[in-house]
Amino acid sequence: MFLTGTPPQCQSKTQAFLDQEHCLLIDGEWVPAASGKRLEVTNPATGEKLSSVAEGDSEDVQRAVFAARRAFESGPWSKVTTSERGKMIWKLADLLEAHLDEFAELESLDNGKPRAVAAAADVPLAVDLLRYMAGWATKIEGNTLPISVPYMPGAEFHSYTHREPVGVVGQIIPWNFPLLMAAWKLGPALATGCTVVLKVAEETPMTALRLGHLIQEAGIPDGVVNIITGYGETAGAALAAHPDVDKVAFTGSTEVGKLIVQAAGQSNLKKVSLELGGKSPNIILPDADLAAAIPGAANAIFFNHGQCCCAGSRLYVHRSQYGEVVKGIAEHAKSIQMGPGMHPDCQMGPMVSQIQQDRVCGFMNSGLSEGAEAVTGGQPGEGQGYFVEPTVLINTRPEMSVIREEIFGPVVAAVPYDDEDQVIAVANDSQYGLAAAVWTRDISRGHQVAKQLRAGNVWINCYNVFDAALPFGGFKQSGWGREMGHDALELYTETKAVTVQL
Ligand code: NAI
Ligand code: MG
Repeated sequence: MFLTGTPPQCQSKTQAFLDQEHCLLIDGEWVPAASGKRLEVTNPATGEKLSSVAEGDSEDVQRAVFAARRAFESGPWSKVTTSERGKMIWKLADLLEAHLDEFAELESLDNGKPRAVAAAADVPLAVDLLRYMAGWATKIEGNTLPISVPYMPGAEFHSYTHREPVGVVGQIIPWNFPLLMAAWKLGPALATGCTVVLKVAEETPMTALRLGHLIQEAGIPDGVVNIITGYGETAGAALAAHPDVDKVAFTGSTEVGKLIVQAAGQSNLKKVSLELGGKSPNIILPDADLAAAIPGAANAIFFNHGQCCCAGSRLYVHRSQYGEVVKGIAEHAKSIQMGPGMHPDCQMGPMVSQIQQDRVCGFMNSGLSEGAEAVTGGQPGEGQGYFVEPTVLINTRPEMSVIREEIFGPVVAAVPYDDEDQVIAVANDSQYGLAAAVWTRDISRGHQVAKQLRAGNVWINCYNVFDAALPFGGFKQSGWGREMGHDALELYTETKAVTVQL
């Protein structure tokens, strides 16, 4: 269902921000790209120009890494106490919360997602994550270790470990949750005492730039967080290959994740953490409560228009309930109100870009030409923006690209199964292992299935439940390491073992 009527304008302060000629944040200053180049930002709901940002490249990355190194080694940051560090991160969270409306509008206009969803989920989750990480700043502890040293009989020692910041961190983030991804990256890096060069996605730079102003307002010293807008192939690649970057944290495609690993290997073997693609299975067992499982399966794929690395894009339903579930999820899909994210009734906005719309339609068309059938959807949506209809595919085969590859759009393949053990094997038959879900009234069975699923996040009788305390990340080609939770601190610290002979 496509919403008609012009959506409301954003607030004047949001518009005033969009109207600025945005620059890069390097060493506490907002500066143009060294090349002078600019990059146009598009509103995906209209295809029209939204704003303009600097097109940073390797020269700007060089300056930003230099600033981050100085801030790490000799700037005030290394002398800021852990308590003060925590307070600054908490202050940033407070400032973000105070500007929730503005951030929700910017995110909606830039990314396409419903303003209401950004206000209810993206911004509050980012605030929460920052607060959670602010608390960790004072709690990053080492251990004391009893040691024996068999070849030094009689000697006595005092040994302890110390967890130190890994150093200058390059962070490269995608466009599907622009603010939230910035928070997931910055929160643990700041809590552990690292300094950062953040390369935001070329499609969606606006909220990270606004956050840059709040970072300054929160009193975080110059050079601790540097923000580069620009393309992945230039600015992103320069950051991944930079010999003075100690670690790179990346979220995006598996394809680029492999390039990041190569660049790290060919430069200075910087540490790498990766949060990559997925093709997550969502299994409805025969005893599931379908009144919860059907809307749950719809949310699993249609939330954020399917532009989620953990989207439940393979839906496995027992044959006895297959017809009912397919009908239910198709009805749900048809009822979704699609339109510009700023429309108050919008439930699904456009894809982030024309490229992404073409990609998603390309996958659908390949599936349809190979014999899959769209029970609903299967087309680009109405309107001048980059819309794609919520789509339910049936009659797929395991070898089809719609089953094997990440579509990153509102397209779910519903597949029947007969045997419970067999469905687990089919669910695990993927290069990815990011998320999975199982729906059942038998909680023991739910735990047993969860144990067998090769995925970093398993949901039982729910989907897309995120919290700052819950680690998130993937098995197999879905990535390396875990973000959020205290696991995230591991990504940003080095352990030092100190031994004193007494
Ligand atoms: P991408 O992986 O190319 O972009 C993600 C980030 O990496 C952006 O900031 C981009 O500028 C940067 N980047 C691109 N090439 C780079 C390079 N050579 N070196 C360093 N950084 C680089 O993803 P893209 O092209 O936007 O989307 C393609 C597909 O990737 C999507 O359809 C989806 O399947 C997947 N994807 C997965 C995401 C996730 O959350 N895991 C997020 C975004 C995309
Ligand atoms: Mg790309």
